[in-house]
Parts: sequence; structure tokens; C-alpha cells
Amino acid sequence: MSHLFVSTHPLVRHKLTLLRNETTDHKKFRELIREIAILLVYEATQDLATEPVMAKTPMGEAHGQRLLGNVGLVPVLRAGLGMVDGAWQMLPGAEVWHIGLSRDERTLQPVAYYSRLPVSPTVDVCLILDPMLATGGSAVATVDILKKWGAQRIKFVGIIGSRVGVERLSATHPDVPIYLAAIDEKLNDIGFIVPGLGDAGDRQFGTG
Ligand code: PRP
Repeated sequence: MSHLFVSTHPLVRHKLTLLRNETTDHKKFRELIREIAILLVYEATQDLATEPVMAKTPMGEAHGQRLLGNVGLVPVLRAGLGMVDGAWQMLPGAEVWHIGLSRDERTLQPVAYYSRLPVSPTVDVCLILDPMLATGGSAVATVDILKKWGAQRIKFVGIIGSRVGVERLSATHPDVPIYLAAIDEKLNDIGFIVPGLGDAGDRQFGTG
């Protein structure tokens, strides 16, 4: 099974509650997605490699650390786009590789419509960004794409996962750690997480 991290941090809980609230407008919703992404990326990057360096301060020299290796942020269109800004603020040197997937409304299967990954991997670790892990189909398909590309280390950073979605991703790709703000127990018959937050893409982009 995958390593699973579900945040219990008060800031995450507070912001997630505002995010779920149906009266939260699009602007606030986007801000909250960005802020929660920062807090979860902080957790997902705990084991990034560093090397020792010295920092020259105005008062002398201090032992410090510098990040090693390249991180790739992989937002799943559309809803993952809102998480890029926050993640990128924390990792300004990261590359951003977009993957376009949409769920067929009838079958709930992900349909890939965009990927411009270069021929071989250019990053050491990929952080998949997608706020919703519902049936898990989109997350599994994204990991499939990245593994076929040759990615060695992949982590999934979401916001709300359903129990069944987490189990599916974890069973299919046990080497991919999962970072979430919450796990909800139910999916409804059209594949929406209940209570969830509604449609994360529509609520960000005002298209609902
Ligand atoms: C949503 C969400 C995930 C996917 C999750 O995207 O952002 O990508 O569904 O569902 P799954 O776990 O059952 O695959 P959607 O297909 O609605 O596209 P959008 O982000 O463009 O609105």
C-alpha cells in the first residue's frame, strides 16, 4: 500500500472547511486551493535531497543546505491548475508539465486529451497536482503516463480523496505516496465525492 498522509493541521482543516462551503465564491475558492496546495506540498517535499552549502551572512558564515535535483509539477487539467501557483511559490525552480484528462460522464473513465512531455524525463521527482481523487481513474492514468515516460519518483498531492479512490490508486501504484487534506467516505452514482466540495474545476473557473 502507498504511504498515505492526511493532514490534521488546523490551518488545513480551517481552509478546507471554507473550500467545501457552497457559499465560497470563485475568487476565494481559488485562493484556498492555492493556500492548501502550499501546505500539502510542504509535507510532500519532506524527503527532498539537499546538499550542504555555506551561507555568508553580514556577520559571518553559516552552515546551510541547498535543494538537489529537479522537481516536476504535474497539474491534471483543469482542476489541478489551481494548485500550481502555490506549489511553484514553494519550488520556484520546478518544471511544470501539464496533463489533460477529462472524465467521460457516462463511463467515468478518464480520457486523455493533452500531454507534451519531452522524450525522456527531465525531473527527479514528479508531484501530481489534482484536488479531487474520486474513483481514482484519473490519478491512476496520470501515474501510468508518467511511469511510461520513465519517471522514477512520483507523488500524488490532492485535496479531497474518496476512500475508494485512495484504495484504487494505492493498490495500482503502491510506490506512489498520497498527500491529502481529507478522505471522504462516499462517492455518489455520478462519481462525485460526498460531501466533497462539488466540481473543483467549475468552482475555480466559474463554469458551473
Ligand atoms: C475531476 C478532477 C479529477 C477527476 C477525478 O476532473 O479534477 O481530475 O475528476 O475523478 P476520478 O478520480 O473519478 O478520475 P474532471 O474530469 O471533472 O475535469 P475538469 O478538472 O476539467 O473539470
